[in-house]
Amino acid sequence: MPNSLSTASSNLLFSLFIIQLLFTTSLIRATPENSKLFREYIGAEGKNVTFSNVPVNPNVDFHFILSFAVDYTNSSSPSSTNGFFNPYWDRDNLNPSQISSIKGHHPNVKVAMSLAGDTLDNHFVYFNPASTSSWVRNAISSITQIVREYNLDGIDIDYEHFNADPDTFAECIGRLLVYLKQNDIVSFASIAPYEDDSIQPHYLALWRKYGHLIDYVNFQFYAYDNRTTVPQFMQYFDTQSSNYRGGKILLSFGTDGSGGLTPENGFFMACSMLKSQGKLHGIFIWSADDSKEADFHYEKQSQDFLASGK
Ligand SMILES: *[C@@H]1O[C@H](CO)[C@@H](O)[C@H](O)[C@H]1NC(C)=O
Ligand SMILES: *[C@@H]1O[C@H](CO)[C@@H](O)[C@H](O)[C@H]1NC(C)=O
Ligand SMILES: *[C@@H]1O[C@H](CO)[C@@H](O)[C@H](O)[C@H]1NC(C)=O
Repeated sequence: MPNSLSTASSNLLFSLFIIQLLFTTSLIRATPENSKLFREYIGAEGKNVTFSNVPVNPNVDFHFILSFAVDYTNSSSPSSTNGFFNPYWDRDNLNPSQISSIKGHHPNVKVAMSLAGDTLDNHFVYFNPASTSSWVRNAISSITQIVREYNLDGIDIDYEHFNADPDTFAECIGRLLVYLKQNDIVSFASIAPYEDDSIQPHYLALWRKYGHLIDYVNFQFYAYDNRTTVPQFMQYFDTQSSNYRGGKILLSFGTDGSGGLTPENGFFMACSMLKSQGKLHGIFIWSADDSKEADFHYEKQSQDFLASGK
Protein backbone atom coordinates (compact mmCIF):
# COMPACT_ATOMS: atom_id res chain seq x y z
CA MET A 1 0.00 0.00 0.00
CA PRO A 2 2.78 2.53 0.74
CA ASN A 3 3.87 1.96 -2.82
CA SER A 4 0.53 2.85 -4.32
CA LEU A 5 0.32 5.86 -2.02
CA SER A 6 3.62 7.12 -3.29
CA THR A 7 2.48 6.31 -6.84
CA ALA A 8 -0.64 8.36 -6.20
CA SER A 9 1.34 11.27 -4.86
CA SER A 10 3.84 11.10 -7.69
CA ASN A 11 0.87 10.97 -10.10
CA LEU A 12 -0.47 14.07 -8.38
CA LEU A 13 2.91 15.77 -8.66
CA PHE A 14 3.10 14.76 -12.28
CA SER A 15 -0.39 16.20 -12.95
CA LEU A 16 0.57 19.43 -11.22
CA PHE A 17 3.70 19.52 -13.31
CA ILE A 18 1.65 19.08 -16.51
CA ILE A 19 -0.82 21.77 -15.44
CA GLN A 20 2.08 24.05 -14.64
CA LEU A 21 3.63 23.25 -18.01
CA LEU A 22 0.38 23.96 -19.88
CA PHE A 23 -0.07 27.18 -17.97
CA THR A 24 3.47 28.33 -18.68
CA THR A 25 3.16 27.37 -22.35
CA SER A 26 -0.08 29.30 -22.70
CA LEU A 27 1.56 32.30 -21.03
CA ILE A 28 4.41 32.07 -23.49
CA ARG A 29 1.92 31.87 -26.36
CA ALA A 30 0.03 34.90 -25.10
CA THR A 31 3.18 36.99 -24.78
CA PRO A 32 2.95 39.82 -27.28
CA GLU A 33 5.30 39.58 -30.20
CA ASN A 34 5.59 43.33 -30.60
CA SER A 35 8.88 44.53 -31.94
CA LYS A 36 10.65 47.87 -32.15
CA LEU A 37 11.69 47.56 -35.78
CA PHE A 38 11.62 50.70 -37.91
CA ARG A 39 12.57 50.55 -41.59
CA GLU A 40 12.74 53.21 -44.27
CA TYR A 41 13.41 53.21 -48.01
CA ILE A 42 15.93 55.82 -49.09
CA GLY A 43 17.65 57.08 -52.21
CA ALA A 44 15.26 56.50 -55.11
CA GLU A 45 14.20 60.02 -55.94
CA GLY A 46 17.28 62.16 -56.44
CA LYS A 47 16.49 64.61 -53.66
CA ASN A 48 19.92 64.50 -52.03
CA VAL A 49 18.63 62.93 -48.84
CA THR A 50 21.44 61.60 -46.62
CA PHE A 51 21.44 59.05 -43.79
CA SER A 52 22.29 61.77 -41.28
CA ASN A 53 19.24 63.82 -42.34
CA VAL A 54 16.97 61.11 -40.91
CA PRO A 55 16.39 61.11 -37.13
CA VAL A 56 17.35 57.82 -35.46
CA ASN A 57 15.85 56.94 -32.07
CA PRO A 58 18.42 54.89 -30.10
CA ASN A 59 15.65 52.69 -28.66
CA VAL A 60 14.50 51.06 -31.91
CA ASP A 61 16.08 48.69 -34.41
CA PHE A 62 16.58 50.83 -37.51
CA HIS A 63 16.97 49.59 -41.09
CA PHE A 64 17.74 51.89 -44.00
CA ILE A 65 16.77 50.24 -47.29
CA LEU A 66 18.69 51.56 -50.29
CA SER A 67 16.44 51.93 -53.31
CA PHE A 68 17.27 50.28 -55.68
CA ALA A 69 19.74 47.80 -57.13
CA VAL A 70 18.41 46.88 -60.55
CA ASP A 71 19.16 44.15 -63.10
CA TYR A 72 18.38 46.48 -65.98
CA THR A 73 20.44 48.86 -68.04
CA ASN A 74 19.58 52.54 -67.97
CA SER A 75 20.27 52.99 -71.70
CA SER A 76 17.77 54.75 -73.96
CA SER A 77 15.99 51.44 -74.49
CA PRO A 78 16.37 49.73 -71.12
CA SER A 79 16.77 45.98 -71.17
CA SER A 80 17.25 43.20 -68.67
CA THR A 81 20.75 42.24 -67.59
CA ASN A 82 19.52 38.80 -66.46
CA GLY A 83 20.29 39.02 -62.77
CA PHE A 84 23.34 41.22 -63.04
CA PHE A 85 22.54 44.00 -60.56
CA ASN A 86 23.87 47.55 -60.43
CA PRO A 87 23.18 50.12 -57.73
CA TYR A 88 20.94 52.97 -58.94
CA TRP A 89 20.20 54.67 -55.64
CA ASP A 90 21.66 58.13 -55.04
CA ARG A 91 25.29 57.05 -54.73
CA ASP A 92 26.54 60.62 -54.32
CA ASN A 93 24.82 60.84 -50.95
CA LEU A 94 24.55 57.18 -49.94
CA ASN A 95 27.99 55.69 -50.48
CA PRO A 96 30.17 53.21 -48.56
CA SER A 97 31.86 55.83 -46.38
CA GLN A 98 28.52 57.37 -45.40
CA ILE A 99 27.26 53.89 -44.54
CA SER A 100 30.20 53.21 -42.25
CA SER A 101 29.74 56.65 -40.69
CA ILE A 102 26.02 56.23 -39.92
CA LYS A 103 26.63 52.74 -38.51
CA GLY A 104 29.49 54.11 -36.42
CA HIS A 105 27.29 56.82 -34.94
CA HIS A 106 24.27 54.58 -34.38
CA PRO A 107 24.92 50.97 -33.32
CA ASN A 108 21.18 50.24 -33.80
CA VAL A 109 21.35 51.05 -37.55
CA LYS A 110 21.61 48.39 -40.24
CA VAL A 111 21.56 48.94 -43.98
CA ALA A 112 19.87 46.81 -46.62
CA MET A 113 19.31 47.20 -50.32
CA SER A 114 16.14 46.61 -52.24
CA LEU A 115 16.12 44.82 -55.59
CA ALA A 116 14.30 46.12 -58.67
CA GLY A 117 11.56 48.59 -57.69
CA ASP A 118 8.89 49.87 -60.04
CA THR A 119 10.75 51.87 -62.71
CA LEU A 120 14.20 52.91 -63.90
CA ASP A 121 14.29 56.16 -65.85
CA ASN A 122 10.51 55.92 -66.36
CA HIS A 123 10.65 52.39 -67.76
CA PHE A 124 9.16 49.46 -65.87
CA VAL A 125 11.73 47.11 -64.39
CA TYR A 126 10.77 43.54 -65.31
CA PHE A 127 11.78 40.30 -63.67
CA ASN A 128 13.03 38.73 -66.89
CA PRO A 129 15.38 35.76 -66.38
CA ALA A 130 16.91 34.04 -69.43
CA SER A 131 16.97 30.86 -67.34
CA THR A 132 16.78 30.11 -63.63
CA SER A 133 20.38 28.95 -63.35
CA SER A 134 21.92 31.87 -65.29
CA TRP A 135 19.82 34.46 -63.44
CA VAL A 136 20.75 32.99 -60.03
CA ARG A 137 24.44 32.78 -60.94
CA ASN A 138 24.54 36.44 -62.07
CA ALA A 139 22.49 37.63 -59.10
CA ILE A 140 24.73 35.85 -56.59
CA SER A 141 27.93 37.31 -57.99
CA SER A 142 26.69 40.89 -58.53
CA ILE A 143 24.82 41.11 -55.21
CA THR A 144 27.70 39.63 -53.23
CA GLN A 145 30.00 42.25 -54.72
CA ILE A 146 27.65 45.17 -53.92
CA VAL A 147 26.99 43.92 -50.37
CA ARG A 148 30.75 43.75 -49.70
CA GLU A 149 31.52 47.12 -51.29
CA TYR A 150 28.80 48.92 -49.30
CA ASN A 151 28.99 46.74 -46.17
CA LEU A 152 25.28 45.90 -46.28
CA ASP A 153 23.39 43.72 -43.81
CA GLY A 154 20.24 42.70 -45.59
CA ILE A 155 18.24 42.47 -48.78
CA ASP A 156 14.70 43.34 -49.83
CA ILE A 157 12.89 41.96 -52.88
CA ASP A 158 10.69 44.48 -54.69
CA TYR A 159 9.97 43.31 -58.24
CA GLU A 160 6.65 44.73 -59.42
CA HIS A 161 6.60 43.62 -63.10
CA PHE A 162 7.06 40.09 -64.34
CA ASN A 163 8.01 38.36 -67.58
CA ALA A 164 8.12 34.98 -65.86
CA ASP A 165 5.61 32.78 -64.05
CA PRO A 166 5.30 32.64 -60.24
CA ASP A 167 7.18 29.34 -59.94
CA THR A 168 10.18 30.67 -61.86
CA PHE A 169 10.21 33.79 -59.69
CA ALA A 170 9.98 31.67 -56.53
CA GLU A 171 12.82 29.42 -57.66
CA CYS A 172 15.17 32.24 -58.72
CA ILE A 173 14.64 34.38 -55.62
CA GLY A 174 14.50 31.35 -53.33
CA ARG A 175 17.84 29.96 -54.55
CA LEU A 176 19.38 33.42 -54.30
CA LEU A 177 18.21 33.74 -50.67
CA VAL A 178 19.46 30.25 -49.81
CA TYR A 179 22.92 31.18 -51.04
CA LEU A 180 23.03 34.65 -49.45
CA LYS A 181 21.94 33.36 -46.06
CA GLN A 182 23.87 30.09 -45.97
CA ASN A 183 27.06 31.95 -46.80
CA ASP A 184 26.34 34.79 -44.35
CA ILE A 185 26.42 37.40 -47.13
CA VAL A 186 23.28 38.95 -45.58
CA SER A 187 21.70 38.39 -42.17
CA PHE A 188 18.09 39.29 -43.02
CA ALA A 189 15.76 39.31 -46.00
CA SER A 190 12.38 40.86 -46.73
CA ILE A 191 9.85 40.96 -49.54
CA ALA A 192 7.70 43.94 -50.55
CA PRO A 193 4.47 42.75 -52.19
CA TYR A 194 1.21 44.64 -52.55
CA GLU A 195 -2.38 43.66 -53.24
CA ASP A 196 -2.58 43.19 -57.00
CA ASP A 197 -3.48 40.13 -59.08
CA SER A 198 -0.30 40.47 -61.15
CA ILE A 199 1.92 40.71 -58.05
CA GLN A 200 0.64 38.49 -55.26
CA PRO A 201 0.83 35.08 -57.03
CA HIS A 202 4.58 35.54 -57.50
CA TYR A 203 5.25 36.45 -53.87
CA LEU A 204 2.86 33.80 -52.55
CA ALA A 205 4.63 31.10 -54.58
CA LEU A 206 7.93 32.34 -53.13
CA TRP A 207 6.46 32.37 -49.61
CA ARG A 208 5.08 28.82 -49.90
CA LYS A 209 8.43 27.34 -50.81
CA TYR A 210 11.00 29.68 -49.25
CA GLY A 211 9.09 31.60 -46.57
CA HIS A 212 11.42 30.24 -43.87
CA LEU A 213 14.22 32.41 -45.36
CA ILE A 214 12.15 35.62 -45.30
CA ASP A 215 12.38 37.57 -42.05
CA TYR A 216 9.91 40.39 -42.78
CA VAL A 217 7.06 41.11 -45.14
CA ASN A 218 7.23 44.81 -46.06
CA PHE A 219 3.65 44.80 -47.21
CA GLN A 220 2.93 47.97 -49.18
CA PHE A 221 -0.27 49.00 -47.38
CA TYR A 222 0.09 52.40 -49.10
CA ALA A 223 -0.79 50.73 -52.41
CA TYR A 224 -4.40 50.42 -51.19
CA ASP A 225 -6.94 53.16 -51.91
CA ASN A 226 -6.23 56.54 -50.31
CA ARG A 227 -9.61 56.44 -48.55
CA THR A 228 -8.62 53.42 -46.42
CA THR A 229 -10.21 53.55 -42.96
CA VAL A 230 -8.92 52.05 -39.70
CA PRO A 231 -11.35 49.06 -39.81
CA GLN A 232 -10.43 48.40 -43.45
CA PHE A 233 -6.75 48.56 -42.58
CA MET A 234 -7.27 46.01 -39.78
CA GLN A 235 -9.04 43.76 -42.26
CA TYR A 236 -6.21 44.11 -44.81
CA PHE A 237 -3.73 43.22 -42.08
CA ASP A 238 -5.69 40.05 -41.26
CA THR A 239 -5.93 39.08 -44.93
CA GLN A 240 -2.20 39.49 -45.49
CA SER A 241 -1.36 37.75 -42.21
CA SER A 242 -3.22 34.72 -43.46
CA ASN A 243 -1.68 34.98 -46.95
CA TYR A 244 1.83 35.15 -45.47
CA ARG A 245 1.03 32.81 -42.59
CA GLY A 246 3.61 32.87 -39.81
CA GLY A 247 5.28 35.93 -41.34
CA LYS A 248 6.14 39.22 -39.69
CA ILE A 249 3.90 41.60 -41.60
CA LEU A 250 5.15 45.17 -41.07
CA LEU A 251 2.76 48.14 -41.14
CA SER A 252 3.44 50.89 -43.63
CA PHE A 253 2.48 54.24 -45.05
CA GLY A 254 3.84 56.55 -47.72
CA THR A 255 4.98 60.14 -47.34
CA ASP A 256 4.81 60.65 -51.11
CA GLY A 257 1.04 61.23 -51.24
CA SER A 258 0.31 57.62 -52.22
CA GLY A 259 -2.70 55.77 -50.80
CA GLY A 260 -3.44 53.53 -47.86
CA LEU A 261 -4.06 54.66 -44.30
CA THR A 262 -2.16 57.86 -43.53
CA PRO A 263 -1.18 59.13 -40.07
CA GLU A 264 -3.77 61.90 -40.56
CA ASN A 265 -6.48 59.27 -41.05
CA GLY A 266 -5.61 56.94 -38.15
CA PHE A 267 -2.49 54.95 -39.01
CA PHE A 268 -1.25 55.13 -35.41
CA MET A 269 -4.66 54.14 -34.09
CA ALA A 270 -4.40 50.94 -36.12
CA CYS A 271 -0.85 50.49 -34.80
CA SER A 272 -2.11 50.80 -31.20
CA MET A 273 -4.81 48.22 -31.75
CA LEU A 274 -2.35 45.74 -33.25
CA LYS A 275 0.18 46.49 -30.51
CA SER A 276 -2.41 45.64 -27.85
CA GLN A 277 -2.97 42.33 -29.65
CA GLY A 278 0.79 41.63 -29.74
CA LYS A 279 0.87 41.80 -33.53
CA LEU A 280 3.04 44.86 -34.10
CA HIS A 281 6.11 43.48 -35.86
CA GLY A 282 7.37 46.89 -36.96
CA ILE A 283 6.69 49.92 -39.15
CA PHE A 284 8.21 51.01 -42.44
CA ILE A 285 7.90 54.19 -44.51
CA TRP A 286 8.20 54.95 -48.21
CA SER A 287 10.28 57.12 -48.31
CA ALA A 288 12.99 59.25 -46.68
CA ASP A 289 13.33 61.24 -49.91
CA ASP A 290 9.69 62.32 -49.67
CA SER A 291 9.83 62.98 -45.92
CA LYS A 292 12.71 65.43 -46.15
CA GLU A 293 10.41 68.38 -46.89
CA ALA A 294 8.28 67.67 -43.81
CA ASP A 295 11.41 67.40 -41.65
CA PHE A 296 10.81 63.69 -40.93
CA HIS A 297 7.93 64.38 -38.58
CA TYR A 298 6.37 60.94 -39.09
CA GLU A 299 9.70 59.14 -38.81
CA LYS A 300 10.06 60.62 -35.31
CA GLN A 301 6.48 59.76 -34.40
CA SER A 302 6.80 56.18 -35.69
CA GLN A 303 9.99 55.53 -33.76
CA ASP A 304 8.65 57.15 -30.57
CA PHE A 305 5.59 54.93 -30.89
CA LEU A 306 7.67 51.78 -31.34
CA ALA A 307 10.08 52.69 -28.53
CA SER A 308 7.32 53.37 -26.00
CA GLY A 309 6.40 50.47 -23.70
CA LYS A 310 4.99 47.09 -24.68
C1 LIG B 1 21.50 67.66 -55.37
O1 LIG B 1 22.85 68.00 -55.23
C2 LIG B 1 23.47 68.28 -56.48
C3 LIG B 1 24.96 68.49 -56.23
O2 LIG B 1 25.16 69.33 -55.15
C4 LIG B 1 22.80 69.51 -57.10
O3 LIG B 1 23.38 69.81 -58.36
C5 LIG B 1 21.32 69.22 -57.28
O4 LIG B 1 20.64 70.37 -57.76
C6 LIG B 1 20.69 68.79 -55.98
N1 LIG B 1 19.31 68.35 -56.21
C7 LIG B 1 18.29 68.64 -55.40
C8 LIG B 1 16.95 68.14 -55.81
O5 LIG B 1 18.46 69.28 -54.37
C1 LIG C 1 23.42 54.93 -66.14
O1 LIG C 1 23.96 54.64 -64.87
C2 LIG C 1 25.34 54.84 -64.80
C3 LIG C 1 25.84 54.28 -63.48
O2 LIG C 1 24.82 54.24 -62.56
C4 LIG C 1 25.59 56.35 -64.96
O3 LIG C 1 26.95 56.63 -64.85
C5 LIG C 1 25.05 56.80 -66.30
O4 LIG C 1 25.15 58.19 -66.43
C6 LIG C 1 23.60 56.40 -66.49
N1 LIG C 1 23.19 56.63 -67.86
C7 LIG C 1 22.02 57.17 -68.17
C8 LIG C 1 21.73 57.28 -69.63
O5 LIG C 1 21.20 57.54 -67.33
C1 LIG D 1 -7.19 59.81 -53.86
O1 LIG D 1 -7.07 59.07 -55.07
C2 LIG D 1 -7.92 59.53 -56.09
C3 LIG D 1 -7.85 58.54 -57.24
O2 LIG D 1 -6.54 58.20 -57.52
C4 LIG D 1 -7.51 60.96 -56.48
O3 LIG D 1 -8.31 61.45 -57.51
C5 LIG D 1 -7.62 61.85 -55.25
O4 LIG D 1 -7.12 63.13 -55.54
C6 LIG D 1 -6.83 61.27 -54.08
N1 LIG D 1 -7.13 62.03 -52.87
C7 LIG D 1 -6.17 62.47 -52.06
C8 LIG D 1 -6.65 63.20 -50.83
O5 LIG D 1 -4.98 62.32 -52.27
